[in-house]
Amino acid sequence: MFPDAVKNLHPLPRHVAVIMDGNGRWAQSQGRQRHFGHRAGVRSARALVEAAAEQQIQVLTLFAFSSENWKRPATEVDGLMRLFVEVLQREVDALHENGIQLRFIGARDTLPTILRKRMADAEARTAGNTRMTLVLAVAYGGHWDIVEAVRRVAAKVKSGHIEPGDIDEQLIQRHTALAGLPAPDLLIRTGGEKRISNFLLWDLAYTEFYFTPTLWPEFDTGRFREALEHYRSRQRRFGGVVPVREAVAGD
Ligand code: IPE
Ligand code: IPE
Ligand code: MG
Repeated sequence: MFPDAVKNLHPLPRHVAVIMDGNGRWAQSQGRQRHFGHRAGVRSARALVEAAAEQQIQVLTLFAFSSENWKRPATEVDGLMRLFVEVLQREVDALHENGIQLRFIGARDTLPTILRKRMADAEARTAGNTRMTLVLAVAYGGHWDIVEAVRRVAAKVKSGHIEPGDIDEQLIQRHTALAGLPAPDLLIRTGGEKRISNFLLWDLAYTEFYFTPTLWPEFDTGRFREALEHYRSRQRRFGGVVPVREAVAGD
């Protein structure tokens, strides 16, 4: 009845965050080693970056390696670190040419030196790009993020730059890994698990969650579009009440 009104009330998400899960199980289903699944996962990630930029998503945050993933066998961890180095080497030119800014979040000091260098180079090279920000979470944990923020805020209190009473939600946000970026509107988790696995604990306070059993290597552009459609059908209230226009539109 009021398609334009409905459209206006359900814009596309500005920020999409993704827990890219299911590479190992997908590889197993193909009778292959887990690493084969991680390689296939990179292709899915690449396709998603292109699709998100086309959809004019402003920020895309991908969970690539968690602070808990160090518990995996050394061969798998080494393979993943090598894969990250290789992917950065191969993809940064194209990302840069497409106007994408790269940003990494996570405990960098735990990562191999060569990877840290590639990350720093990629960030410096793409710093001026404005079409879309691609945030890659590597060695990232939500608890780590909050601890880091608390440490930095505590240091400012200690040095006398701020008073304890100055600490509010905005100040904490400005000290988290996603400082300066809007909170994720939509979180997608592939692979069937319905949990956060220590992803963006602070930032997901009012995010819409979309869980799909699809394994990450099979999450293609069509599936992404389905997730976006699902998001657009959600009614976000942020603790308030249903907007009158939306109720009239019979949604
Ligand atoms: C996600 O896929 C990728 C990383 C955590 C690096 P998994 O490797 O967790 O795949 P499953 O969950 O074992 O299938
Ligand atoms: C979450 O997946 C982390 C990433 C996708 C990078 P996991 O496979 O590590 O999560 P759990 O172990 O199932 O919670
Ligand atoms: Mg997993």
